[in-house]
Amino acid sequence: MASQLVVRACPPFGMSGPDAAEAVAGLERRTGELLDRPELERARAMVPRARADFLAARLAQHLLAAELLGVRARDLAASYSCPQCGTGPGVSHGRPGYTLDGVPVPLLLSLSRAAGWTLLAAVTAPAAGQRLGVDAEDPQRLEFEGFDTVALTPAERRAVAPLHGTALLRGRARLWARKEAFLKMTGEGLRRAPEALDVLDRPGIRDLASAESGLPDDLVAAVALG
Ligand SMILES: CC(C)(COP(=O)(O)OP(=O)(O)OC[C@H]1O[C@@H](n2cnc3c(N)ncnc32)[C@H](O)[C@@H]1OP(=O)(O)O)[C@@H](O)C(=O)NCCC(=O)NCCS
Repeated sequence: MASQLVVRACPPFGMSGPDAAEAVAGLERRTGELLDRPELERARAMVPRARADFLAARLAQHLLAAELLGVRARDLAASYSCPQCGTGPGVSHGRPGYTLDGVPVPLLLSLSRAAGWTLLAAVTAPAAGQRLGVDAEDPQRLEFEGFDTVALTPAERRAVAPLHGTALLRGRARLWARKEAFLKMTGEGLRRAPEALDVLDRPGIRDLASAESGLPDDLVAAVALG
């Protein structure tokens, strides 16, 4: 089977309106059936809004994995790996993955949340050693003084210097999404200094337009594959 990149956006989980309590109860029930104990324990420590976002995203990721593999969702077990904490049944953070009958499945996964949306990326039938990272960003979040100094390399700062207003925020968000996608791909996350990672022309990283990502136009996203 040929390797294929799949990208899917999931809209914010609705927690207002007359059906909200029922929707939350349904989410808790479904995730209680499908997610693993460490995932549910992590969710329990969160405030309601964050918990719903986390559970909805983990559920969407679990169901996407089952769909792409053609297996029953309840037969998959989450298997996360963190460069610091390792891999194993007790780890519920870091790089996502699943096992089927105790064997890691042939599927790369990456997840990002922004402005309530969840962006999922997957690579089916990956080549040996292949890695994937995805990131979505809300440009409005990056409107603060000092961002360029703490987040961008000198070349990147020069690239955004002529921009103003919305174009500046989108320019920053585009670079930040590229950095986080790359750092999820390597597994390092923000343990690696973002202001020393140039992503203007780094091979393997590309922007995801909303037509491909499925996200609203006001969000930006990037994928890294290598
Ligand atoms: C990876 C990272 C940059 C993403 O942060 P963010 O922008 O706040 O969040 P996003 O919504 O875009 O992405 C979150 C997802 O990234 C993924 N992720 C987290 N760490 C990852 C890693 N090391 N490698 C690959 N993917 C990772 C997970 O799927 C996570 O989803 P979850 O919340 O369901 O667990 C950030 O989590 C990080 O730097 N992590 C490393 C440090 C760390 O995790 N320390 C604590 C544990 S020792």
